Amino acid sequence: MKEVIKIEGGHELNGEVTISGSKNATVALIPSAILAQGPVTIVGVPTISDVDSLSEILESLNVEVTKVADDHIIIDPTYIKNVTLDSNAVTKLRASYYFMGALLGRFGEVKMKMPGGCYLGPRPIDLHLKGFEALGASIKYEHGLYTIKADELVGNKIYLDISSVGATINIMMAAVYAKGRTIIENAAKEPEIIDVATLLNKMGAKVRGAGTDEITIDGVDKLMGCFHEIIPDRIEAGTFIILACAAAKEMRIKNIIPQHLDSLLFKLKEMGVDMEVDIDSVTIRNGRKLKAVNIKTQPYPGFATDLQQPLTSLLTQCVGKSAIRDTIYPERFKHCIELQRMGADIELGLGRSFINGPTKLYGDVVTATDLRCGASLVVAGLIAEGITEIHEVSHIDRGYEDLDGKLKKLGAKIWREKIDA
Ligand code: EPU
Repeated sequence: MKEVIKIEGGHELNGEVTISGSKNATVALIPSAILAQGPVTIVGVPTISDVDSLSEILESLNVEVTKVADDHIIIDPTYIKNVTLDSNAVTKLRASYYFMGALLGRFGEVKMKMPGGCYLGPRPIDLHLKGFEALGASIKYEHGLYTIKADELVGNKIYLDISSVGATINIMMAAVYAKGRTIIENAAKEPEIIDVATLLNKMGAKVRGAGTDEITIDGVDKLMGCFHEIIPDRIEAGTFIILACAAAKEMRIKNIIPQHLDSLLFKLKEMGVDMEVDIDSVTIRNGRKLKAVNIKTQPYPGFATDLQQPLTSLLTQCVGKSAIRDTIYPERFKHCIELQRMGADIELGLGRSFINGPTKLYGDVVTATDLRCGASLVVAGLIAEGITEIHEVSHIDRGYEDLDGKLKKLGAKIWREKIDA
């Protein structure tokens, strides 16, 4: 038996939704907690399966994880043991690679399997490894297992050829205990990086410049436990804003940092969306005809690649021809094939999609090939005529907290069913 999500389209949404803690910050904050020599309390933890997988990895390292409340965990790495990470949990998610930097930083050695995660085309980790090497580590890859070790980690200047989120965070974690100063140039500037640097600094690290393209880390001898609240999830927020534009009469999206969403909000204004931006919320009102736009995904503060997929579904309803170019993951267009099944008029080019609108969408049996593809199918399902049946929902559960519950409260007809595999 497997679970599918079903949506009966055409029901107007209304009301308020509260955004959860950032998934992409959480999946980095949890591994970084093992760098402390005492308990780290994290609040705002979303209930998503990626957190379960990371907790499983922590437990295999003899790190105690206590769930105090739904969104509140205490990670106690006091009795941590540096064992080989080769369980299925490691290959389930991409972010397990943060244990590379964290364990290398704490023990000077890590052995682990290749991380898994959504297939968005090739996702190399060469920049992470080059960073570890620059700090003095040697790297061996044999039979699917990485062995990364260093007699001593020593600060260095590291230039990232691409401003990679993962590599920036991994190098920060590996460098916190390194001797001397590490400088990461062309560092990624995503808000999640600032959140991780904030946690590390609360523990006692000396990380400066996070949020700019040059991050400096001065090594310290000891990091302590601390308390940290995770930033709101800008991609979940963006997804709800997009689905509000597609299917809501009026919707208020709360617990957001609007500045983190500037690139999306500016595009929506260009499309003609009626919105009101407040200090920590956005209200979307519907009724206007929306215009086609051109999107080019770029590292933050550019347009997020994670939002181009849900936005595609909205663009099928806009008047004219929209164009999307994904410069980060040129193969991240599998959702378009699924949307075409539902009636979308989309042409695909190399790293690009062209969406002709408006077109009527019809419910069909579709597959969430990755997390944000799942989000794009939910947006499409809400506006399609008839019932949309989404398969491979585990991808959605990896990154969206209670997506169906939140939508139900807004008036959507969405439910889960077990079907024969
Ligand atoms: N890249 C390399 N070599 C590396 C690392 C990255 O060539 O060693 C390339 C990638 O192939 C890609 C670009 O650099 O073309 C940027 O990749 P980045 O490392 O920034 O991505 P990531 O850290 O693996 C995070 C998010 C993704 C999000 C991307 C881009 C997490 C756990 N994942 O991935 O989120 O799409 O940044 O913003 O933070 C999602 O949430 O659905 C998701 C996939």
